[in-house]
Amino acid sequence: MEPWYKVATPRKEVREGRSFNPDEFAIALEQVVAGTAPEDYRKPDQFFARTCFTRALREHAGMVLRRLSGRTDNTAPVLTLITQFGGGKTHTLTTLYHLATNGNKAADYNGVSDLVREAGIASVPKARVAVFVGNAWDPRPGYETPWIDVARQLGGDAAVEALGVAAKSTPPGTDAIGRVFEAAGAPVLLLFDEVLNYLNRHRSGAEAFHAFIQNLTVATTGTTHGACVISLPRSQVEMTDWDMQWQEKISRVVRRVAKDLIANDETEISEVVRRRLFQDLGSEKVRRNVSKAFADWCFERRAQLPAGVDRRGFRGDRGEGPRVPAAPLRSLLPVPSGDAFGLSAQVASAGAVSANARHASDACPVDFDCGR
Ligand SMILES: Nc1ncnc2c1ncn2[C@@H]1O[C@H](COP(=O)(O)OP(=O)(O)OP(=O)(O)O)[C@@H](O)[C@H]1O
Ligand SMILES: [Mg+2]
Repeated sequence: MEPWYKVATPRKEVREGRSFNPDEFAIALEQVVAGTAPEDYRKPDQFFARTCFTRALREHAGMVLRRLSGRTDNTAPVLTLITQFGGGKTHTLTTLYHLATNGNKAADYNGVSDLVREAGIASVPKARVAVFVGNAWDPRPGYETPWIDVARQLGGDAAVEALGVAAKSTPPGTDAIGRVFEAAGAPVLLLFDEVLNYLNRHRSGAEAFHAFIQNLTVATTGTTHGACVISLPRSQVEMTDWDMQWQEKISRVVRRVAKDLIANDETEISEVVRRRLFQDLGSEKVRRNVSKAFADWCFERRAQLPAGVDRRGFRGDRGEGPRVPAAPLRSLLPVPSGDAFGLSAQVASAGAVSANARHASDACPVDFDCGR
């Protein structure tokens, strides 16, 4: 049996050990917008090559594209994207950013033409996009409040003027936001990430921000070519009381029109991990042989294997690919430096799942369903 590193080629940044640097690992959407993010996130062709169009991502992106195309059926003006930490919120927002800023140029990127077809639209709509990343945002001249920043991104000075003279201190009403959308002169997409971080740091501005989101929700509902996507973490364990209170308040205002989206089905996480780490998986025949050898090895030693490495809780025996236990992607993806086998143990344990017992010959270490 060939060792895995002779069969599959890890991605360049993984080979060079850069992948484990937290700055390269986490997506910072504001850096994608500023053009300072690593290439894999910043360049849309590379970003899509590495993106696994999970069922959730296809559905969410499809709904937003439909809305930006002027469709109002099977979509919603405001979408709240909820996952646990590391569950793909920023990746989803970055996908939407690259789609809407590139318009139909994006149709050539990996997985996008299928996405457009599934969404039932003719092409990728191009939009004016405003991005608000709460942990990166602070006031600066010309961008004194979140709504001034959003307006400037959507329609430049004309849109900021449309907010009215009070905008430096007071959140805009729905009419003013409607005028900003008009000044944009195109479909508008608003992407909000890490909102709770902003609210935590700017506590005196929390009520005003809340009013802004409330009015934005109403104004977005009133336009046919606009969508607003707000990410909110699901894990209450990692939230402070303040976070929870504001998460609840923000959710309450958007709930009337928003659709809650739960990112990344946990069954698809193995493929996300695969794309994040490997450039090429090598010959399928070799992979199947390796999987089979591994499955046989597991089967022969099944009595000694720890509890949990069996069929219970997994879908491998129904031919739907292994089911990886619920865990944020972030906890699966980083490999502690110097421990190159930390990751393969994770991937291998996913493989062991479908490789168990009766269906050993069908075993495949990862779920290959996704966007290939
Ligand atoms: N569908 C996907 N295809 C490829 N990679 C993905 C996908 N979803 C997430 N990832 C990768 O998984 C990692 C974690 O995802 P992401 O940063 O989007 O999670 P998050 O929910 O924003 O996390 P946090 O709560 O910490 O902000 C990133 O490296 C991201 O690129
Ligand atoms: Mg994030």
